[in-house]
Amino acid sequence: MTPEHVAQQLTQVGTTLMQPAELNACLAVQACEWTRFAGHWEELAPDPYAAELGTRRLRRYGHFLFSPADGDFTLMAHSSFVQPEDSNPLYVEKDRYFEPLTDAFAKDPLLQRILKLLGRLATALDDAPEWSAKVTPFRVLASTDDKGQPTPEGLHRDGVTLVTSLMIGRRNALGGESTVVDMAGRCMLATTLHEPGTLLLGDDRRTLHGVSPIRPRDPARPARRDVLVITFAQSG
Ligand SMILES: [Fe+2]
Repeated sequence: MTPEHVAQQLTQVGTTLMQPAELNACLAVQACEWTRFAGHWEELAPDPYAAELGTRRLRRYGHFLFSPADGDFTLMAHSSFVQPEDSNPLYVEKDRYFEPLTDAFAKDPLLQRILKLLGRLATALDDAPEWSAKVTPFRVLASTDDKGQPTPEGLHRDGVTLVTSLMIGRRNALGGESTVVDMAGRCMLATTLHEPGTLLLGDDRRTLHGVSPIRPRDPARPARRDVLVITFAQSG
């Protein structure tokens, strides 16, 4: 699938899935790049808000401004994360503070390529002079008596235009099925992201998404699921 095909799927259907080979070709990277990139997930910080709900989740957060006219992404000063109205019911208009992206991650050439590709796709969905791109690397952990909820809020919208979830890695994990439904609740896509470089995309204005809990395959060890969630919304 070329970026043009992905854009077409997004505008016509509202959601689509890119396989690693397709994404790697679009980004002009080798599959082994994902192993190096996954190293950033060893640097995440605990999410105290998910902990309140009984889920062990690690994350960081960064906010970029994207200008389609010159194709530039600018990292903004770090601030709290506010969930827009009419989106995630758990956190609407509640400020949450997360640790910033590490410098190495924010400047990683692979992240820059991913942002450029997604910026193109956001532009295909809507014509905005400036975009706000929010970047959140996540790790969810689970044990036998501690279910890992990738989306504790269940099916939800993020209140943006484009919402994307990129698989970085899974270890000892069962479950974690991603579902995308339309506004009437009809299933549009259900898939379990496994291989690093698999990318799920959705038009957040007309879909809801959620991920089922993960649990350990081998009960003696924790299960984990690492993803990179990037959203694009019209800025201002
Ligand atoms: Fe979400």
